Amino acid sequence: MLSITRIQCNQKTTPTMIDHQNPKFSWTVESDDDGTKQYSYEIQISDSPAFSKLYWDSNEVISNQTHLIAYAGQQLQPDCTYFLRVRLTDTDKITTHWVLTSFNTALMLANDRWPVPFISPIEDTEFDVSCGWYLMHSIKIEKPVQRVVVYASALGMYELYINGKRAGKQEFSPGWTDYKRRLQYQWYDVTALIEPGENLLMGHLGTGWYKGDLGGWLDLRGIYGSRNWFSMLMHIEYEDAVLQTVSTDEKWKSCRSPVLYSEIYHGEVYDAQQQRTVQEIKRDLMHISSVVCEKKDSLCMVYQEGPEVLEQEIIKPVAELRDSKGRIILDFGQNITGQVRFSVTGNAGECVRLYHGEILDQNGDLYTENLRTAKQKIEYLCRGDGTEIWKPHFTFQGFRYVLIDKFSGEYSAERFEAIVYHSDMDRTGHFSCSDSRVNKLFKNIVWGMKGNFLDIPTDCPQRDERLGWTGDAQVFINTACRLYDTGTFFQKWLADMRSEQHADGGIPHVIPDIFESVPEEKRSIPSASATGWADAAVICPWELYLQYGNTTYLSENYDMMRRWVSYMEQHATDKVIWDSGFHFGDWLALDGEPGSYFGATPNDLTATAFYANSVKIMEKIAAVLHRVEDETYYHALHDQIAEAFCARFLKEDGSLTVQTQTAHVLALHFELIPERFISGIIDNLVVLIEKAGMHLNTGFLGTPYLCDVLTNHGRCDIAYQLLLQDTFPSWLYQVKHGATTIWEHWDGIKPDGSLWSPDMNSFNHYAYGSIGAWLMGKVAGINTSEQKCGYHQVCFTPHPMKGLEWVSASQETPYGKVSLQWEMKDDTCEFIVTIPIQTTGTLQIPQTEEILDIKPGISRFRRKIIW
Ligand code: BGC
Repeated sequence: MLSITRIQCNQKTTPTMIDHQNPKFSWTVESDDDGTKQYSYEIQISDSPAFSKLYWDSNEVISNQTHLIAYAGQQLQPDCTYFLRVRLTDTDKITTHWVLTSFNTALMLANDRWPVPFISPIEDTEFDVSCGWYLMHSIKIEKPVQRVVVYASALGMYELYINGKRAGKQEFSPGWTDYKRRLQYQWYDVTALIEPGENLLMGHLGTGWYKGDLGGWLDLRGIYGSRNWFSMLMHIEYEDAVLQTVSTDEKWKSCRSPVLYSEIYHGEVYDAQQQRTVQEIKRDLMHISSVVCEKKDSLCMVYQEGPEVLEQEIIKPVAELRDSKGRIILDFGQNITGQVRFSVTGNAGECVRLYHGEILDQNGDLYTENLRTAKQKIEYLCRGDGTEIWKPHFTFQGFRYVLIDKFSGEYSAERFEAIVYHSDMDRTGHFSCSDSRVNKLFKNIVWGMKGNFLDIPTDCPQRDERLGWTGDAQVFINTACRLYDTGTFFQKWLADMRSEQHADGGIPHVIPDIFESVPEEKRSIPSASATGWADAAVICPWELYLQYGNTTYLSENYDMMRRWVSYMEQHATDKVIWDSGFHFGDWLALDGEPGSYFGATPNDLTATAFYANSVKIMEKIAAVLHRVEDETYYHALHDQIAEAFCARFLKEDGSLTVQTQTAHVLALHFELIPERFISGIIDNLVVLIEKAGMHLNTGFLGTPYLCDVLTNHGRCDIAYQLLLQDTFPSWLYQVKHGATTIWEHWDGIKPDGSLWSPDMNSFNHYAYGSIGAWLMGKVAGINTSEQKCGYHQVCFTPHPMKGLEWVSASQETPYGKVSLQWEMKDDTCEFIVTIPIQTTGTLQIPQTEEILDIKPGISRFRRKIIW
């Protein structure tokens, strides 16, 4: 008998909100008898739970498809709730009950144009001021309401309050997009907050990414605009079916809020004495300042595309330490991205002052130099009328330690807790094994992801940067897609990438692009088109397609990818060797000059290799999208680049002209080496690793593929040695030195305890966490086939090796849970694999040519393995 366990609409778990005329529906199915399958499905959509009027009745469709079934009903209306029900018939002709769920539609704006004005406080005229503002309006509700919803957004950050009560749970709204062109709006059901009589509507507006400081080392500020704006549209549906609309307009009022100062990098100052009750505000409303009112018709307004940022976890301090001045430092035991919430019982005007940092220095003092200009400082001035509980509004910090510089009233560590924020994605991938150090590494990778998936994929969450570096994102995306369901998260970010692509096809280094705003005289490097960074435009959509099996990721980005590849083609010598332009190269590799950020692998090699790889991916994408001419074109272009690569970088004896680990890794991983030379190149890579004392010295571009290359070419033993290495430089070196996230530098903390220079030393940088994909995909061996991607066909390729006795991993896929365990006992390895119904699978038995077909459900196998 079948049962439906999850229904998704546009790959968002229902109930959800969409803003799309042609949604796609997916469900996962379980069966108590693994032999049964879905024989047919039926979907109905209605605007009432009684299903009296049907918007769509698919009728019984004989099909085993469960993923991405396209809506084919009547036109959906904006701002409506739709009820959706699905039932299945199995191969034994037994039909399930209807499974009911719902989705809402957002405003479905014509031409993405926002229908109502934005308002800005009349006093928000000072470019340097970073205070909070209240924007307020009072409305009278004179009869019972049925449903009241608000659509709101801001150029800045905002919180929505109705009668002093916070609406919604999302933080840092409206999120960060290319504000020059694109802005997200959010939806709130505020029915429960509305009262009979006077109601106070209030937007609390903060500086945010829009007006605030960005890129501290570049001194950027107000790159999108010099004043903040707020806008909202309220739909009131009365019980008597009358509809009313309220929106921001010139009648609204504004005043400063108790947030005296708030900046993403620097923290917040809040004066609780300036808080006013709803009654006081209502009373004074007539006398306070007005607003500037403006339509923003050039902005493309889109409903919240990615997951909202929500409070995810609460962490209590694990230790209370003292710094050299005797001040208390709270240790939360984990490097996180979030805020501290505390309770204080102090006198009016007394101050609580906190500083946040990732590590302590050798004296046990809070180390903040690596934050560069970011202050990560919080000040709270007490109201003084009892216990006050507070957390910041428009800022977040990257920290493990909090220095309590000042506190008021009776102190106790119990009064403090850390709130972890990140985009609200479903956790999908899990891994554990017999080595607790590797388990800690995996945990650190997960925490690195949590800390850097706050609305956009950032390089780091603590210093004056926190930017959507494209290179970091492409390096980590495979791991990210395994750990969490990141589909809509990346879809939103890629929309900004499309929006910010340069006219010549160039892709900015960071998305949203702040470097475009750097004045010419301050610009030391171009703002776009570096190899391995800009290639995110091709690599990310392809990876999303493979992991989630949705061609939309490819089709909606196809033009961007095509234009990026054509940029490389135009800049490459003879269209094949890319040996010009600015590149970060194998960033932070240890084989470069001491103290340099640039690794030793020359740019012409890395750039030509990445160019070849992007062209290869384009060939595959063109095939998926049935663009036959393009496919032929990219195929031929790839052959030419590969040939030119060999002519330039391969000597007659089959060795590479560049003797770095990364050169070998890229040439092999991107399949640029003729068959006959491959074993020589892999042998030489092993020699280079041995020469480094069984250590890696790769940077951002080589590291993600290093262990894969070794594994794919029969040297998984060496990959294991690199994994299990715990002397510097290695993944476990960080673990041994107490890391709770992934470091930016292999030598962030050097073996002698000293630190890499403060100007670039984050302890929460996910890039080297890309080893997570190898742990899941090679050590455990959970993979999707490329032909039936999204794990419709699961390919298990486990690699048991000396060093680990057992491994257990699982991954939630669009079809359900896939899992694999292997355990070595004496000379025999036991494999237990699970795949969901509606999928097929194969298991490649290690060290042999044997490939077994796997059936849905649990299967066990035992084989002798040479250990
Ligand atoms: C960031 C990186 C980024 C790099 C460019 C750094 O400042 O933190 O992670 O990719 O610049 O090379």
